[in-house]
Amino acid sequence: MENPVSQPAPVVVAIDGPAASGKSSVARALARRLGYGYVNSGALYRSATWFVLEGGLDARAAALAAAHAFQPTAGAEPDPSLFEARINAHVSAVSSVPEVRALLTDRLRAVADTLPGVVMEGRDIGSAVFPQTPYKFYIDASLEVRAQRRGGQTGAGSDDLQARDRTDSTRRTSPLIIAEDAHVIDSSRLTIDGVVGEVIGRLKLKGLVVE
Ligand code: C5P
Repeated sequence: MENPVSQPAPVVVAIDGPAASGKSSVARALARRLGYGYVNSGALYRSATWFVLEGGLDARAAALAAAHAFQPTAGAEPDPSLFEARINAHVSAVSSVPEVRALLTDRLRAVADTLPGVVMEGRDIGSAVFPQTPYKFYIDASLEVRAQRRGGQTGAGSDDLQARDRTDSTRRTSPLIIAEDAHVIDSSRLTIDGVVGEVIGRLKLKGLVVE
């Protein structure tokens, strides 16, 4: 039998943080700047929730269906139906199911393996999905600013940010936490470019070659 050829690990930049903290805008702009792939892991959890609500599937089957359907492409916007109020209201509960997390974490790792570099945003990317990456960021913002940002998003349904954060932070399996080695950025008073600039500066300090 041939020896398996070892593949170099992808460069992963993990962007975690609470709901509507500006992670998506920052992660998308950062991926473009670095020439990396962009993966919105929240879209995958939202898709699983859609399969529970719309398809009547149990959580495990919904996660399998979402993993199968997930096709992240650089810069692509998730389907607007994933941001409806009913998805916002149920996504944290679906995401708390350990089997859902195990399946979707595997899917996220497999997606990253197909890319030389990836910016991945979510809640547990630095703490659980890619704990070995040295490039971890936690993007925060005040509740007031986050509510304003969510309110300004076209097509976004009502969203109880505090309730989602509470459930996401207190679940047993891979809760939203600040990874010990994450660089925390409060984006309340910063523009997207400002946050991206701070992230790039930090990446360079850590030795990542940014062209
Ligand atoms: O990022 P976004 O707010 O769209 O994520 C929606 C929900 O998906 C979160 O509130 C959380 O319950 C779940 N999620 C998660 N782990 C991730 C990404 C999202 O549990 N890595």
